[in-house]
Formats: sequence, structure tokens, C-alpha cells
Amino acid sequence: MTAQDEELIAVSGLSSGYGAVPVIHSVDFTVRTGEIFAVVGGNGAGKTTLLSTVSGLLRPTSGSVRLAGTDITGWSPERIVAHGLVHIPEGRRLFTGLTVAEHLRLGLWNAPNRRRVERERTERVVDLFPVLGERMDAYAEVLSGGEQQMLAIGQALMREPRVLLLDEPSIGLAPVVIQRVFAVVDRLRTHGLTVILVEQRVGQALALADRGLVLRHGRVEAAGSAAELAKDPALRVAYLGAAAAGDQRIKE
Ligand SMILES: Nc1ncnc2c1ncn2[C@@H]1O[C@H](COP(=O)(O)OP(=O)(O)OP(=O)(O)O)[C@@H](O)[C@H]1O
Ligand SMILES: [Mg+2]
Repeated sequence: MTAQDEELIAVSGLSSGYGAVPVIHSVDFTVRTGEIFAVVGGNGAGKTTLLSTVSGLLRPTSGSVRLAGTDITGWSPERIVAHGLVHIPEGRRLFTGLTVAEHLRLGLWNAPNRRRVERERTERVVDLFPVLGERMDAYAEVLSGGEQQMLAIGQALMREPRVLLLDEPSIGLAPVVIQRVFAVVDRLRTHGLTVILVEQRVGQALALADRGLVLRHGRVEAAGSAAELAKDPALRVAYLGAAAAGDQRIKE
């Protein structure tokens, strides 16, 4: 295995923002094949902006993103998806009035081989999420929050990505459902997927992740193995004053 294979994603000096407003500043990190890489930090730290820049939704003002050795900086989101990186945005973004089956089909909307692979991929997603198989004709809006998150992940898996970017999959879910979603993310790893996970549930995210980084005011405050990060004072600093709800709140 070459160093490039091992470093599936290499982000270097990445900066971006909205219009003239810079948000992330010279971010560097690498993610290895098969890793779960956690990106944590308080509200407004730039986590979503970082994911959007990696997935091509935002153009960087400087720096580069490499995916499996290919420089994908400035590529369109569609081209990046076709190259194996799928971004599941914050808030799941499902469609009212579309069924589970229709959402899964939509996951392949611009895939060149969609007719050939649809049935087989659907079966694979249903194997992973039996609950979706039982509810193929249900509308997305009648699913529970946890089922909706499974559907969002299932839709992304229809593309058979190499890399999944997951932005706060636990948001708005009850603790027991969160456990289930985290277990699913863990299982994706055994299917060979590489995951970049943004989470407010810091303790749980770091327990699951191999490595990660702490973002604060758009800069990397700390980076390393998940176990090291969990003990790093930078983590506490990043969250001071953050209104992170629930059991993962880091108190002063
Ligand atoms: N569409 C946008 N236009 C302008 N500014 C934005 C936009 N989206 C985010 N920002 C700003 O960029 C900064 C970082 O926001 P971002 O959404 O990346 O943070 P985050 O770490 O994902 O926060 P959260 O945990 O609340 O999701 C914030 O100051 C925010 O106000
Ligand atoms: Mg966000």
C-alpha cells in the first residue's frame, strides 16, 4: 500500500468562507482509508463550512483537497460525488411527499450506471437498515427521526462512496436513538467506508473515532488520535460557553 492509498483524504492549507467573510483558516488534516475521523468544536467554529469546502459546495479561497491521490480542489460537487465522496448535510434534507424507495432511487439520480445497479444497491442498503426495507412505501415525513437519519445515510450509500461526510447525525434525536445511529456509523467502517464525522456529542464521537481534530474560530486547535483529543485541554477551551446540550456538555 502506498502512502497515497493510505491517505485517502489530504487537506492542506484550506481556507474558505462566504463572500468576503473568511470562516476557516489554513486547515490541514489527513484521513486514512477505513478511519472514522471526528471534527469537533463549538457552535459556529466552522465545522459545516469545512465539510462543505471538502465536498465542493463551497470553493476554497486557498489550499487544496486531495482524494485518493487526485487533486479535487475546485471540482463541482457532482464530480466529487462521482469520484466517491458523498456529503450528508446537517438536518438530513429529505423530501416531503417522497417515499423511502424514491429517496433511495434519488441517491442514484445522476449515476451513469443507475439502471443496472439500483436493485442490488437497494438490497444492500436494506440489509444494513432492515427498518427501511419494512417501510419502502412510507413517506419520509412519517418516519421517526432515527429512521430519517438511516434513510439519509442509506441514500448516500446508494452511490457506494469511498468517503462519507456526516454532519451532526445525532441532532434532534433521543439518546437511545443516537446510540443506534452511532452503531450504524461504526458498522460502516466494517464495510470499508471512510467517514468524516462532525458532532456536538463530543464524548460519543471521540469514543467512536480513530482520529480527529478540534476546530475553534475556523482554525485547528488540536489534532491527533481520538483518545489523545478526549484528554486535550484544547477541547475544553473550544467548548467553553458553547450551548452544547445534553450529557456531553463540557462544563467549566
Ligand atoms: N451561508 C452562510 N453565509 C454566511 N455566513 C455563514 C453561512 N453559514 C455559516 N456562516 C458563518 O460561518 C461561521 C461558521 O459556521 P458553521 O456553520 O461552519 O459552523 P459550525 O461549526 O458548523 O456550527 P454548528 O455547530 O452550529 O453547526 C459562523 O460564524 C456562521 O455564522
Ligand atoms: Mg454545523
